[in-house]
Amino acid sequence: MQAVNEELALSLKGRDFLMLVDFTKDELQYLIELAIDLKKKQKAGETYHPLKGKTLGMIFEKSSTRTRVSFEVGIYQLGGQGLFLSGNDLQLGRGETIWDTAQVLSRYLDGIMIRTFAHRKVVELARGATIPVINGLTDLSHPCQALADFQTIYEHKGRLEGLKMAYIGDGNNVVHSLMMGAAKLGMHMAIATPKGYEPDADIVEQTKANTLDSGSTLYVGYDPKVAIADADIIYTDVWASMGQEAEQKERELAFADYQVNDELVKLAKKDYLFMHCLPAHRGEEVTESVIDGDQSIIFDQAENRLHAQKAIMAAIMS
Ligand code: CP
Ligand code: NVA
Repeated sequence: MQAVNEELALSLKGRDFLMLVDFTKDELQYLIELAIDLKKKQKAGETYHPLKGKTLGMIFEKSSTRTRVSFEVGIYQLGGQGLFLSGNDLQLGRGETIWDTAQVLSRYLDGIMIRTFAHRKVVELARGATIPVINGLTDLSHPCQALADFQTIYEHKGRLEGLKMAYIGDGNNVVHSLMMGAAKLGMHMAIATPKGYEPDADIVEQTKANTLDSGSTLYVGYDPKVAIADADIIYTDVWASMGQEAEQKERELAFADYQVNDELVKLAKKDYLFMHCLPAHRGEEVTESVIDGDQSIIFDQAENRLHAQKAIMAAIMS
């Protein structure tokens, strides 16, 4: 076991963290175990400084509460420091190329976290940088969120393999990362979206291929009742993501039958858990009764962003 873990630790060093599909099942499980271990250390008040003297640059071109605070606190707890870089204030916002930015930042920093719109920008940044780059959310994916979510499910249910997650709502960045991770980790996934709001077709294909290796299943359809049947986990997200504010009204109409409410959750397993990446809009994608009910674990998810991202940073930046 020790030798296997050393091998996994070595394979993760210096890597970028852009998409969950880039990692093997063993690597994802290793990161989840590491997150749980770092959480224990922190709760016990143990000092652990594997990133002493290191700096993480954090570029934000979109708003954030959880990602910003958990990365900044996380790097500090690992002995390093975080540097908040607003997209508007960087020369990047005035037309400096991504390549030049990546090269220059690599001379000062030990890692870069970026939250932006186009996923391509993160890929280009990673290509130009000589230090690890972490995807803190793009229009396409949100891998840090999904890793923290799998940690949360594992802590509550004691396993991941064989569980069923139902995702009801928009085929967006969050569900893309959940799909990729679930297929690797052996969780069944059933997704229901309105027509025209399906998850990305390429990601669906890629995920289907990965389910063959892990023995899990993927259902992508339009009926929330079918998706939620016998689910262990119910997950939803906002109907209009950052950058889609102008579509709010038309989305409210399109998603009207996709609200996670008391009637719908009756079809899931009795001991289902409700999850949401937050921020949430109570009364839209989910009712207050469900999100604030006893089976909701939204704040455990939010807390685990800290521990999961510490695991990512410790693994790739050490
Ligand atoms: N879930 C999440 O990424 O939250 P923030 O947008 O607040 O970072
Ligand atoms: N899908 C949401 C997630 C926010 C954390 C968005 O992109 O705005």
